[in-house]
Amino acid sequence: MDFERLRRNWENLGRADPMWAILTDEESKGGGWDEDAFFATGREFVEWLAAWLGRHRIDAPRGAALDFGCGIGRLTQALAPHFEHVTGVDVSAPMIDRAREVNRHGDRVDYVCNTRPDLSIFLDASFDFALTAIVLQHMRVDYQLAYLREFLRVLRPGGVLVFQVAVGELRPGAAPTAPAEEPPDEAHMEIHCLEPADVRAALRAAGGRILLEEPDRWAGEHWASAHYAVLRG
Ligand SMILES: C[S@@+](CC[C@H](N)C(=O)[O-])C[C@H]1O[C@@H](n2cnc3c(N)ncnc32)[C@H](O)[C@@H]1O
Repeated sequence: MDFERLRRNWENLGRADPMWAILTDEESKGGGWDEDAFFATGREFVEWLAAWLGRHRIDAPRGAALDFGCGIGRLTQALAPHFEHVTGVDVSAPMIDRAREVNRHGDRVDYVCNTRPDLSIFLDASFDFALTAIVLQHMRVDYQLAYLREFLRVLRPGGVLVFQVAVGELRPGAAPTAPAEEPPDEAHMEIHCLEPADVRAALRAAGGRILLEEPDRWAGEHWASAHYAVLRG
């Protein structure tokens, strides 16, 4: 799926059923998500993240944070108490509109719509922390690797990047989600796996040092996924 089609897809998904497009499960389809329960999952993730980094004595600077592919702000809102400022960026205007409507942290959080396959809207070294989860896996590998380089460019030296990607083949018996001849018209149905060697090479070339590489803790997915924590050197 090329970038323009990816963008249009997320626009449509963000307009039609944003919470289900973000956390897809059958029961929540058709506006079935309770908003409080939805945002509680974001706080749970950020608690896990803080404990994971803490366990490994990684103390990310608490200044400016970036949440890439923020959707309606599930993780952005949960990050806000931990940082001086959080910027959520998303390619889908309806997602950003909804994120602004449900923001509970005032000026501490801002949301930006970015429809480019890069982060040129942000200056070099403008963030202390960057997070992206359940975003990169839905786009082509060349876009994913380009964004990894961009995250490191916009981080200050000493800043920390945490990201999640799909890294493995589909498990036996899993539904095929990789693009078929006629790709499904829903970006969140496509899963593009990265080769860990390519991830390491991209990060190294952009000045990043991998601190942690951990298989996904979420059970029941149809593909192998991993979280990385990276120090901007
Ligand atoms: C599955 S949702 C995850 C949202 C959020 N990270 C969360 O965990 O709640 C994926 C989000 O990434 C956004 N997205 C996809 N491609 C993007 C891109 N190239 N740039 C910015 N946002 C993107 C989509 O619009 C969507 O809101």
